[in-house]
Amino acid sequence: MADNKVYRASTTAPVNIAVVKYWGKRDPKLNLPTNSSISVTLSQADLRTLTTASCSASFDGDSLTLNGQASDISGARTQACFRELRARRAALEAADSSLPKLSTLPLKIVSENNFPTAAGLASSAAGFAALVRAIANLYELTDSPSELSLIARQGSGSACRSLFGGYVAWRMGDKADGTDSKADLISEASHWPNMRALILVVNAAKKDVPSTSGMQQTVATSGLFQQRISQVVPANMILMEEAIRKKDFPQFAEVTMRESNSFHACAADTYPPIFYMNDASRAAIRAVEAINAQAGKTIAAYTYDAGPNCVIYFLEEDEATVVGAFHRFLSGVSGWKASAAEAKSSVELPENIAGILKDGVGRVIQTGVGEGPEKTDEFLIAEDGQTVQR
Ligand code: ADP
Ligand code: DP6
Repeated sequence: MADNKVYRASTTAPVNIAVVKYWGKRDPKLNLPTNSSISVTLSQADLRTLTTASCSASFDGDSLTLNGQASDISGARTQACFRELRARRAALEAADSSLPKLSTLPLKIVSENNFPTAAGLASSAAGFAALVRAIANLYELTDSPSELSLIARQGSGSACRSLFGGYVAWRMGDKADGTDSKADLISEASHWPNMRALILVVNAAKKDVPSTSGMQQTVATSGLFQQRISQVVPANMILMEEAIRKKDFPQFAEVTMRESNSFHACAADTYPPIFYMNDASRAAIRAVEAINAQAGKTIAAYTYDAGPNCVIYFLEEDEATVVGAFHRFLSGVSGWKASAAEAKSSVELPENIAGILKDGVGRVIQTGVGEGPEKTDEFLIAEDGQTVQR
């Protein structure tokens, strides 16, 4: 009788939001970046991907179901992840003939994001990190998170940073084969646990230029970009690592905001130009500036990825001031934690800024720094190989 045993493993993985931005590839096939980057991993209590990986001779070829829908896995990025993980499992099997030959079996992957997919909330980062971590668990690979980040990077560049919690660097490396372009830990979340994030999810009228093609256009056409990768980012990498190690929020905040500005300036310097921020995004920048001015010190930092949503970093001790300043006029949108209603802020945002944000912000997410992928006994595929209906 054929062995139709179903092998399975599950993991959760987090979103990360960069404070030194990845923008530009020197090798699009291997997803090798033109510069190093740094991110903060966000708590999985608020934003997470849950992925179950399974394999069995009874399955009919490889498959991925994402949020209940069959997902195309024929793309080079997903295929690269499957191939690399299978090769590592095959090496273990070659060294120990008692191991079941999982590398030869079809893979069935089922995944769920507990937040909107492809809405500029870094689902691809959490998604590919979870895919790689789940299959690595299934195959019982002993590779370190840094080694696995080499594989996740090929799924989506920013995904390599989601294999760690806390404060994470992606070192660009210089080898042509990409074997030194991987993520490593700057500091655990516990080193600076009071970092918080408020995400203003901004209504967008149209789809942005996807990051993959946007950054290619920037590399090809922006003169400003050359200065960014040769001077701006190398200096900011040093300043940001230092800020994190010293837990120096004003320095962390200034580099975060300058980095966001530099990235969006390069997007605008792309020919034809790319605009990711809209009126609400720009109003949120003014709001953060007003908060810092009224507080008399830098207590909040904005950053934007390839879309209009604003991520505001601040420390827990300033939560009432920062959260309260927005909650005052955004209390009608969803996503606030119960404590937000009690947040008494001394900051009063100018009416014109509050008005634009009131029109433009659709929901908020309150979160903070968090841990890396976590193995879980919650399965999206049952013991018999069937997808769990939820
Ligand atoms: P986002 O802004 O959310 O990162 P992108 O358009 O950059 O949006 O990426 C979305 C893509 O990431 C999806 O189409 C899918 O290919 C991939 N992705 C998202 N979530 C997952 C997941 N849980 N598992 C596997 N792939 C995922
Ligand atoms: C602006 O990682 O989505 O969020 O490697 O092509 O999948 P691909 O790009 P992706 O780009 C993220 C860009 C960014 C900045 C960052 O996360 O560092």
